[in-house]
Amino acid sequence: MSLNETGSVDDTPEEIRLSVSSLNKSFKGRGAVLSDVSMQIRCGEAVALIGGNGSGKSTLLRCCMRLIEPDNGEIIFLRQNVSSLNKPQLRSLRSRIGLVFQKHNLVPRLSVLTNVIHGAVWREGSMRTYRHYTAPDRVRREAMICLEKVGLPHLAESRADCLSGGESQRVAIARALMQRPDFIIADEPVASLDPKVGREVMELFIRLNREEKLTLLYVSHDLDHALDYSDRLIGMSGGRVVLDGVSRKFSKGDLNEIYR
Ligand SMILES: Nc1ncnc2c1ncn2[C@@H]1O[C@H](COP(=O)(O)OP(=O)(O)OP(=O)(O)O)[C@@H](O)[C@H]1O
Ligand SMILES: [Mg+2]
Repeated sequence: MSLNETGSVDDTPEEIRLSVSSLNKSFKGRGAVLSDVSMQIRCGEAVALIGGNGSGKSTLLRCCMRLIEPDNGEIIFLRQNVSSLNKPQLRSLRSRIGLVFQKHNLVPRLSVLTNVIHGAVWREGSMRTYRHYTAPDRVRREAMICLEKVGLPHLAESRADCLSGGESQRVAIARALMQRPDFIIADEPVASLDPKVGREVMELFIRLNREEKLTLLYVSHDLDHALDYSDRLIGMSGGRVVLDGVSRKFSKGDLNEIYR
């Protein structure tokens, strides 16, 4: 791969949004957690990442964001070579990636609208966005549009700690949308939601993936969710990628194999 002066890759095909090559990560006292992991995610894909507890899924995602340092290997994310970025470049890359976790991490005592506006803090670079009444009108309007996309404009003024789990997760997604992301990483985003709401939130992700062309990488322990909402499946076991292919070619039985 050839790199230009800013560490960007010149010869990565445009359609590849995330490329991981021969990634290894071990922790002291734990040994290898990721072993020779390679995968690629293309523009507009919805990819499910599955695997048993401790198989390395979250560690892989953390390495991609450089929240932890891999031992070796290469990660090209949105055409940036992640390990070569300095702090401002890394902040800039992270600002283009919306993260959604099982725990939504909303600020409880603040309004829904303010929480969504927080998604723009990095872009706006100003604490004026800290509360919705000090944020510029255009930022407030954009936050309302993001809330409309997740179906919750009527809750803009509610306090975040008054929301149900499903509503909270939708607000977290609206906050991620406020980043105007190029890529969404969702690590078990519906694990704490009931089956009906869990499906609704997954359907929301897929609608955003299709309509907003948002590339999506999500972790799920629900094999129906993994099969139904993804274009492609990547399966991990013992820190290795053991399955990678078009979702419609797999059955639940195939997927269960990786948990043995
Ligand atoms: N900071 C750390 N120090 C030591 N070991 C760690 C650390 N982070 C993760 N691990 C270990 O790495 C392994 C993989 O963890 P990881 O969280 O990536 O698994 P996972 O596939 O996301 O599992 P789950 O489905 O339970 O979320 C686990 O055995 C975990 O204990
Ligand atoms: Mg995990």
